[in-house]
Amino acid sequence: MSGVFITFEGGDGVGKSTQLQLLAGFVESLGREVIVTREPGGTVLGAEIRNIVLHHRGEIAPRAEALLYAADRAHHVETVVRPALERGAVVIQDRYFDSSIAYQGAGRVLDGEEVREISMWATGSLIPDLTVLLDLDAQQARVRLDAEAKEFDRLESEQSDFHERVQRAYRDLALLDPARWLVLDASQTIDNIAKTIRERVEPMVSDPR
Ligand code: TYD
Repeated sequence: MSGVFITFEGGDGVGKSTQLQLLAGFVESLGREVIVTREPGGTVLGAEIRNIVLHHRGEIAPRAEALLYAADRAHHVETVVRPALERGAVVIQDRYFDSSIAYQGAGRVLDGEEVREISMWATGSLIPDLTVLLDLDAQQARVRLDAEAKEFDRLESEQSDFHERVQRAYRDLALLDPARWLVLDASQTIDNIAKTIRERVEPMVSDPR
């Protein structure tokens, strides 16, 4: 059976981790090996890079930031994602290169297409079979985060127009490649969202016999 690569994208506070765990449980119940992982920080090296990009106190130049995410990604794909896909596992991942295009591109300094090229080089052009976008407008997302009284990291404390640009960037990416993307309104109930995702994923991971 061949591996399946599913990524989750969306702004901060849209409920990605909940949906990711629910999907992982479902796919496991179908008898497939499931790897749940994330970027940045899906490896030991990646955890160090994650600490730099999310918690570094000073400025990080935009190109340096893009390269740090790409370095994390290159190592993660080579040591975790590709080996898992090669042995036939289903990889369910929190964020991948679309995060770089949306976030690093939304800073207005870098061109989204250039950011994409860096990730293509870093990953040997490994493209997900499915990308789930949990789409929530930036303002609603902020309300949810505040409600959780979550401690904001460096990126999360940036202003909401940045988050609006991120959200727009994601929607544009999804429009360009509708076959890869499943765009869901993240203000629906957890159960509704999970059900739609399961329906889309089941035929991709089921035994063809
Ligand atoms: P994290 O706490 O993992 O995620 P979440 O917000 O999904 O709970 O934070 C990751 C942050 O890193 C998030 O704000 C998006 C950002 N990011 C980028 O800017 N570029 C990237 O390529 C990736 C993978 C993440």
